[in-house]
Amino acid sequence: MDSGTIFPLILINVFVHLLLPVEGTDYYGRFPSNFMWGLATSAHQIEGAWNASGKSEHIWDRFCHAGKCWKGDTGDVACDSFHKYMVDVQLLKKIGVTHYRFSLAWTRIIPNPLTGKVNQEGLNYYRQLIDELQRNNIIPLVTIFHWDLPQSLEDIGSWANDSLVGYYNHYADVVFKAYGDKVKHWITFNEPWVICWMGYGTGEYAPGIKEPATRPYKCAHTIIKSHAEAYHTYNDKYRNTQKGQVGITMNSDFMAPKDPHNKSHIEAATRAQQFNLGWFAHPIFKSGDYPDVMKNYVAKNSPQGTSRLPNFTAQEIARNNGSADFLGLNHYTTSLVEPLRRNDNVHVTGGYIDDQENILSHDPAWPGSGSTWLFVVPWGFRNLLNWIRTEYGNPQVIVTENGVTDNNGTVQDKHRVDYYRAYITEMLKAINEDKCNVTGYTAWSLMDNFEWSNGYHEKFGIHYINFSDPELKRVPKDSAIFFQKLITENGFPDPTQNNAAVCSQKIFISLVLIFLVYFLG
Ligand code: GAL
Repeated sequence: MDSGTIFPLILINVFVHLLLPVEGTDYYGRFPSNFMWGLATSAHQIEGAWNASGKSEHIWDRFCHAGKCWKGDTGDVACDSFHKYMVDVQLLKKIGVTHYRFSLAWTRIIPNPLTGKVNQEGLNYYRQLIDELQRNNIIPLVTIFHWDLPQSLEDIGSWANDSLVGYYNHYADVVFKAYGDKVKHWITFNEPWVICWMGYGTGEYAPGIKEPATRPYKCAHTIIKSHAEAYHTYNDKYRNTQKGQVGITMNSDFMAPKDPHNKSHIEAATRAQQFNLGWFAHPIFKSGDYPDVMKNYVAKNSPQGTSRLPNFTAQEIARNNGSADFLGLNHYTTSLVEPLRRNDNVHVTGGYIDDQENILSHDPAWPGSGSTWLFVVPWGFRNLLNWIRTEYGNPQVIVTENGVTDNNGTVQDKHRVDYYRAYITEMLKAINEDKCNVTGYTAWSLMDNFEWSNGYHEKFGIHYINFSDPELKRVPKDSAIFFQKLITENGFPDPTQNNAAVCSQKIFISLVLIFLVYFLG
């Protein structure tokens, strides 16, 4: 073959090779340009210093000191972020986050809520953290209460005692005033469902009370009212000058019908979704009151003429309704739901679970994780975001937690990278295809930490910590690198588009070479 034949062949070859589609194509795209990207933690899970600088005892200190957490683990030292907060801020900076979600410990700021006296040292600690974040261009997203109820409030009956509305409101007022110049995103409560069901229903979490018939409902009632009062306090005293937003974070699985073609399964799944997310979201984002299906089913399963679900007064309904600027969503997994049949032989816990008349399960094909309850079901995330969009009129949603566990803390955490990649892709579809109003995402968690009753055994971090080493050095996992790239690119750019650009450059160079060879050679 002469050169006149060879060159066109090479040229065709180059074209064909470079323009071939990239293998493993998926869904690609970018997030809105002002999307908030962050990582999340909470005070008791990372701070340690459990009795330093005037901090008082809270229910998790009491619970774990009584040996009720994994192999005697406690949060006494945890990641020692109380002392290492500057190191943490540098980790965040390296990842490139725009936001950091952390929580305030009530017991540092107001050690004895019954007197209401503020502890300046406690207040200073979070002021220093907020200032350090600002110096590093990271915006705080602050959870006011992430489960660590002062023991003194537990001792007067906790959320079963209505006076907690006032104590909580005072605490919220103090922190709005102290930090509202720099904090523009407030989350009143983290996961009231977990607080009320696991703390006062199953007793798996602090304070370990097992009264599933009534306590969870009473707890939720007081928390919803506390949230609403804090929201109105912000409106009345701070919104005009501080111009921030106040929301609440709820946890929710996506409740999928076990048989999507069976009407009773579809109804059961809706009922489960209402009992889970609707319990809190319906009063705040829809009507001021509990979902009808929940009222009906709790009444039906209570002694005739009474209901274990408390009533809101007309005034409370008005206070609850619309009392949030955004819905914080913690989402990890999906459940399959079918209705309970009369003769089903299931374990009966009494109360909240039985009231739903459902059976929950999972598909054995779903990949598991380091936690018994967490299955990897990315499509459920998009479904849940759409359920929120249609049920509550497309409110602003900030995904305040999402993540997956293992038990060994490996830094080569491909399973976590895969989980994040798949879940975040579903969120991207929900935003770009379905027009869900999701404005931010903070992954759980910045680093391995104290996973409540499961101690240090269940690990969610994108940084590894060896808890036996007093240095508690933070070591980035592969998932940290994944987040760095995700945030820099603000999504998952289509590699074929990049290829097209690279292709044209290469083709141009080839043409120049051919020209040179032919005419100058
Ligand atoms: C959430 C909770 C977090 C974290 C996470 C992982 O329920 O808000 O604190 O522990 O679960 O289990």
